[in-house]
Amino acid sequence: MKLYLNCFTLRYSAFTVIFSNRSTCLTMSTNIGIIGTGGIARNQLAPALQHVKGARFWSVLSRDKQTAASFANQHGAVAPNNAFDSLAAFLADPALEAVIIATPDALHAPQAIACARAGKHVLLEKPMATTLEDALEINAVCASERVRLAIAYHLRWHAGHQKVAQLLHSGALGDPHYARALWTWKSTDNSNWRAHDELGRWWGLAGVGTHCIDLLRWMLLPTNGEVTKVASVIDKSTFGGPHDETASLSLQFGDSVIADVTTSVKFNALSRFELYCSEAVVICDGTLTTSGGGSISINNEPLEFELLNPYVGEIQNFIDAIDGKARVAVSGAEGAKNIEILLQADS
Ligand SMILES: NC(=O)c1ccc[n+]([C@@H]2O[C@H](COP(=O)([O-])OP(=O)(O)OC[C@H]3O[C@@H](n4cnc5c(N)ncnc54)[C@H](OP(=O)(O)O)[C@@H]3O)[C@@H](O)[C@H]2O)c1
Repeated sequence: MKLYLNCFTLRYSAFTVIFSNRSTCLTMSTNIGIIGTGGIARNQLAPALQHVKGARFWSVLSRDKQTAASFANQHGAVAPNNAFDSLAAFLADPALEAVIIATPDALHAPQAIACARAGKHVLLEKPMATTLEDALEINAVCASERVRLAIAYHLRWHAGHQKVAQLLHSGALGDPHYARALWTWKSTDNSNWRAHDELGRWWGLAGVGTHCIDLLRWMLLPTNGEVTKVASVIDKSTFGGPHDETASLSLQFGDSVIADVTTSVKFNALSRFELYCSEAVVICDGTLTTSGGGSISINNEPLEFELLNPYVGEIQNFIDAIDGKARVAVSGAEGAKNIEILLQADS
């Protein structure tokens, strides 16, 4: 139990009582802040937060105070002091309980560690870090500070993928033999931070490849065990930078199943996830996306699934884990294994 006298908030487990000089109210909401006001925060995370039960958008941190203020206003941040340009001031708010970190990859480690040391739970965008050492340090600090850590791999909350995973893990599809995932986009130049070393470590592999690796591990770990071999071919020829432009990875799970991942920043392709099992061929067209959409067939028969916002599911799982109602779907340990595979692919 924590007593926060300066903001008149008494927190006991998930149950928060807020006293003010005008009214007293009971709420079950966890106050969540966001760090970073870029693409994913603006287009997906802040809008999704409005639909998460037991959470409310509390405050935001940006490099620029005015940007923070307009983001807070646009997305309805409810803290009395809701817009910050200083990490220390943002974290000093005792009513802030959890933070979503949506900044360039190399900033994740220092920000996540600062949040954990301030006692805030952390939902950390993928990839969780740009070095294995950073990933392990994030995990160690979150564990020692006893805060929840979840890594934001939203494809696990795609309702169609969840059905495929259930069928696979129940044995209904037979034994997996081979899988592959293709996800690309087209960049017209290399101005994005992912293309450079200062704030990124991989380009297409960090943008979308890490999601494909997580999807494959989610599907194949229960049936075949951990990734035991990684091979790769990586092209960096067009933009002349340090990072992958087109990448092809082969992963072996256990001692048998092989899964391929292809990413590129040079062309647009319809995303595709294919899974070949002894009893079924699963084809997911256009499901590797932000929308929760696309189509899935199993042995040429359409698989019906609900169109659910995967970011709502992702944040809901984080909140439910804070409240002790669920396990975190993607732990820091899983996030670190993902980094290890990326490093093996492109070290
Ligand atoms: N799960 C998904 O579906 C998904 C999709 C896209 C991205 N992501 C992940 O989310 C994170 C952010 O990606 P994004 O696409 O949103 O990137 P973005 O559009 O470039 O936004 C990043 C934000 O980080 C903040 N920032 C702080 N320091 C910065 C710096 N030195 N340079 C640039 N920005 C800085 C900026 O917000 P302020 O200006 O407010 O400081 C910026 O708007 C990445 O880790 C990425 O991998 C996840």
